[in-house]
Amino acid sequence: MVSTPSTLLHVFLLLLLLLQSHPSQQQQSSSLSPTDKAALLDVRSNLRDLPGSNFFSTWDFTDDPCATFAGVVCSPDDQHGNQSLRISVLTLGTGLAGSLSPSLANLTALTDLVVNPGRISGPIPPDIGARLRRLRCVSISNNLISGSIPVSLAGLPDLHTLDLGQNKLRGPIPPLLLLPSSPSLKVLILAANGGLNGEVPPGISAAQLLHLDLRGNSLTGALPPLPSTLRYLSASANALSGPLDAAFAKPLPDLAFLDLSMNAFTGRVPPAIFALPRLSSLLIQRNNLSGPLAVPRRGEASPSWAVVDLSHNRLSGEFPAALAAAESLYLNNNQLTGAVPEEVARSLYMGSMATLYAQHNYLTSFPAPPLPLPDSVALCLSHNCMSLPSAATIGCPASAGTPPSRPPWQCSNTTTATSGDG
Ligand SMILES: *[C@@H]1O[C@H](CO)[C@@H](O)[C@H](O)[C@H]1NC(C)=O
Ligand SMILES: *[C@@H]1O[C@H](CO)[C@@H](O)[C@H](O)[C@H]1NC(C)=O
Ligand SMILES: *[C@@H]1O[C@H](CO)[C@@H](O)[C@H](O)[C@H]1NC(C)=O
Ligand SMILES: *[C@@H]1O[C@H](CO)[C@@H](O)[C@H](O)[C@H]1NC(C)=O
Repeated sequence: MVSTPSTLLHVFLLLLLLLQSHPSQQQQSSSLSPTDKAALLDVRSNLRDLPGSNFFSTWDFTDDPCATFAGVVCSPDDQHGNQSLRISVLTLGTGLAGSLSPSLANLTALTDLVVNPGRISGPIPPDIGARLRRLRCVSISNNLISGSIPVSLAGLPDLHTLDLGQNKLRGPIPPLLLLPSSPSLKVLILAANGGLNGEVPPGISAAQLLHLDLRGNSLTGALPPLPSTLRYLSASANALSGPLDAAFAKPLPDLAFLDLSMNAFTGRVPPAIFALPRLSSLLIQRNNLSGPLAVPRRGEASPSWAVVDLSHNRLSGEFPAALAAAESLYLNNNQLTGAVPEEVARSLYMGSMATLYAQHNYLTSFPAPPLPLPDSVALCLSHNCMSLPSAATIGCPASAGTPPSRPPWQCSNTTTATSGDG
């Protein structure tokens, strides 16, 4: 390492020179590349402000778009070493109508494309991913975008976030989108399009996703093994089916939010789901899950569950005591038998559990000490196989219905496992 004072001074002076000369040079000769300017003009002519929006008020093409246009960020064109500027970030809206010009795909230096909520319709330009190779973030949500997800978006080397939620997209999820060909993809939101169908691509297993939201579509088939990096998963309100065991076979150390409600999953609830160390919200209500629940005791280091909703399934067997660690617990409309565990009652009396809905089961008793519970607690035990203190129904939703208890003939089979129906 030879760094004499004179070489240091030399470097310092050189830096000073560079810092001084750079901005003035840029001001003299930098302007938006003609290609980008032409593309921007085309983008503009295909869109309009909806009443109440004045997004385009700053877009006067006699000015320098890089200096004055709302939503346009330019960067030096380092790729070609000349002095032209390229558009690197384009943020459109809120409140626009029209369509997305195919010329968007000419903005080849774009890293971030954001379209805010509005009423933009028509497809996403199909070759967008083939030509905008530097894209890191694509967010076109809450508009009326139709057509399919461009296959070209798969395999972009730097794509981190893809949010196409709340549009009118149809067709399959391009399988390659979830393969290691999109190694950087961390956030994928395709929620609430309604028409996305086919299976969840099995390539998902090898992806490095943190956040995956597929809710509100028409996806079918089984849930493939999930990527171990996942923190948030919603696949609620689709037509997914089959058992869940394969999806949860590998460790998911960071999964905090899981919503698989309103599908047609069958089989048992994998015990591994209850053992997920960071899980806070577990929503698997309104499926076709059956069998007894196996709930391991919550580890010391794990937080309590904010919400566990297993309602409207076909779960049978006893009420697991380990569910006492939930703050809100929904078990209603299943076939659970036996007593409400003392541990669960204790959570209610102490107020650590604020809601317990267990109506419409075959539960036989609620343990002493007798009610009343803290005022803040919502408890509903109606339509079970026990006679109820009235406090055990005051927390009931209107949908719990009457009578408060099942008629005795429905309860003759709840005490012995071997008794037949009726
Ligand atoms: C965009 O690029 C294509 C292909 O290079 C070209 O034909 C088209 O004219 C460009 N669009 C604009 C608005 O410049
Ligand atoms: C910069 O270089 C690119 C690629 O060679 C070229 O297309 C563009 O016109 C150049 N821009 C300017 C302002 O010279
Ligand atoms: C639930 O699963 C059973 C088989 O376990 C099947 O017979 C039944 O049709 C399913 N119900 C629904 C609503 O999918
Ligand atoms: C008990 O019998 C009733 C009436 O046949 C039936 O509807 C219910 O599913 C049975 N409950 C259990 C837990 O098997």
